Amino acid sequence: MTDRELIQRAFEMHRVSYVPYSRFPVGAAILTQDGRVFTGCNVENAAYGSTICAERTAILKAVSEGCREGWTAIAIAGQGADFCWPCGACRQMLYEFAPELRVLAARGDGGYQEASLEQLLPHGFGPKSLG
Ligand code: THU
Repeated sequence: MTDRELIQRAFEMHRVSYVPYSRFPVGAAILTQDGRVFTGCNVENAAYGSTICAERTAILKAVSEGCREGWTAIAIAGQGADFCWPCGACRQMLYEFAPELRVLAARGDGGYQEASLEQLLPHGFGPKSLG
């Protein structure tokens, strides 16, 4: 699967985002070594702090389907003029399973930028940090 196709999968999740409060749909798609894709959307809540981001929805779907390893890339698609980079909580959760992940951040017009998770979360705290 190409980067463009993965980004497209992330954009397709906008139609199921539940965003009555922010009106800002976000989609995410995690690609694995064996070609599986786990998608996610943001799901908001009237108790705002209970909202979950698209990235963490995708992470939880992968892990709960028994897939914890071999994640090669995540695409994140927002609707704004800025590239939709993952929030701090999502960076931390991604680091647990895929510290060497490629991150593709797309904006509303489809343009995107790439960074490594290591660049986005330098000196991250992960399973190895616990000794
Ligand atoms: N959001 C995500 O789903 N992922 C991000 O990377 C940034 C923010 C969501 C949370 C909330 O539903 C909305 O976008 C506005 O913050």
